[in-house]
Amino acid sequence: MLKHWLSLKIIHLQKCNICIDLCKTYVKISIYCLLQNVLMLILLYVYMYINYNVHMYILMCYNNVRNKEYKMRVFSVVNQKGGVGKSTITINLARAIQKDGASVAVIDCDPQGTTTDWAALNSNIEPGGFFPVHHYHIKDLPDRLAEFKDYDCVVIDGAPRLEELSVAIIKVSDVILIPIQPSPNDVWASISFVDLIKERQKVKPDLKAMFVVNRQKPNTGAIKEVRAALEQIGIPVLESGINDRVSFAKTLGNGVTVFEEKGKAASEIKALANELLKAINDE
Ligand SMILES: Nc1ncnc2c1ncn2[C@@H]1O[C@H](COP(=O)(O)OP(=O)(O)OP(=O)(O)O)[C@@H](O)[C@H]1O
Ligand SMILES: [Mg+2]
Repeated sequence: MLKHWLSLKIIHLQKCNICIDLCKTYVKISIYCLLQNVLMLILLYVYMYINYNVHMYILMCYNNVRNKEYKMRVFSVVNQKGGVGKSTITINLARAIQKDGASVAVIDCDPQGTTTDWAALNSNIEPGGFFPVHHYHIKDLPDRLAEFKDYDCVVIDGAPRLEELSVAIIKVSDVILIPIQPSPNDVWASISFVDLIKERQKVKPDLKAMFVVNRQKPNTGAIKEVRAALEQIGIPVLESGINDRVSFAKTLGNGVTVFEEKGKAASEIKALANELLKAINDE
């Protein structure tokens, strides 16, 4: 009887030991899981912290590059000669700059309002328009420009003939782009306008001015002659010329830009924008 009782007791004690071992293992596993979760949380936190800081750093570098590229805020497309492509280049250049990631607004100073009409068509296609286009009178121009202080760049579309207007635009500009067609007439007509710019450069030496040859017909000797004549005038001529292409007229009439067609015209405008930015950042 006693023997039986003892053997039962031993079995009972063994079971208890197994239970204690199981409990210990269970506690160990729980502690291990808890530590694992804490470690996971710490790793997650570190990952999010690094991710956030890397993103902020990239954003900061990107903004620094932007500020550098567009440190010249006011680009004007001006020539007193009519029909040389001022409005066409204004709209497409603004779009190229915008596509490059910068904020841009356009000011239409021409009483004819070509760019404003284009913007009205554009806002029917693209709600809100690609970028703001404002039609201002020259007397308001200096004050109105202050409204655009948060933009990377403002592009002004000039008007033909009106000397008073051209002088007002030159005064507020950082960079003047002079579109010119490859004809001797256009070169001669630009001389008096260039004199206005040179006068202004005497009081504002960092004012930049550049010719851009528009409506080029490739493989004609006229382009070379015109470029040589322009170089004599003392204002640099951009390498990137704009060819005569149907898509410029078509897109202007449709309220879009050549970038919505993605043809060769878009590549030409992009090259022009890049060269323009390089020219102003290199100096
Ligand atoms: N590279 C080009 N290829 C084909 N057509 C062009 C080109 N540039 C301008 N045009 C066309 O020439 C005409 C005049 O262009 P635009 O209106 O841009 O000139 P502008 O200098 O602004 O004229 P204005 O002096 O009257 O303001 C428009 O019909 C336009 O579509
Ligand atoms: Mg115009």
